[in-house]
Amino acid sequence: MKLFFSMIILGTVMLTVQSCYYDKEDLLYGNGNVPCTDTSAVSYTQKVVPILQQYCYSCHSGGFPSGNVLMGTYAADKAIGTNGSLYGSISYATGYSPMPKGMSKMTPCQIATIKKWVDSGMPNN
Ligand code: HEC
Repeated sequence: MKLFFSMIILGTVMLTVQSCYYDKEDLLYGNGNVPCTDTSAVSYTQKVVPILQQYCYSCHSGGFPSGNVLMGTYAADKAIGTNGSLYGSISYATGYSPMPKGMSKMTPCQIATIKKWVDSGMPNN
């Protein structure tokens, strides 16, 4: 009987420890590493622009964009999507400068969102 209670206590402790582990993971990664669960159609204005604004436009817009690569309008973003350098740079593909420069790589979900937009023909939606 004593052993039975010990097992219950041990089980409770293990469950508690496990749930703490998940809480911490959320804190550590800020949901950035949570798998991409968004299966809705990709939207340029609602999904792509906020990501590019956060990571790219600061250097790649205005009169003197870095590396002479202009971004920040649909036509400009589409142009680097079409020539492959948008996805090439954010996915760290060989032959492209890894972007965003000086920051950590974008999350897999953000990269997948951009890829989905490029692969679906870069709709202006
Ligand atoms: C801190 C400034 C900075 C940020 C932020 C930045 N870039 Fe760049 N980018 C540069 C500079 C400088 C160059 C030119 C030198 C080089 O290629 O490294 C460049 C070059 C590029 C090129 C041409 C590289 C090639 O190999 O063809 C592309 C495409 C590009 N950036 C896309 C992006 C994208 C997309 C983002 C956002 C995810 C981004 N950049 C964020 C500074 C930046």
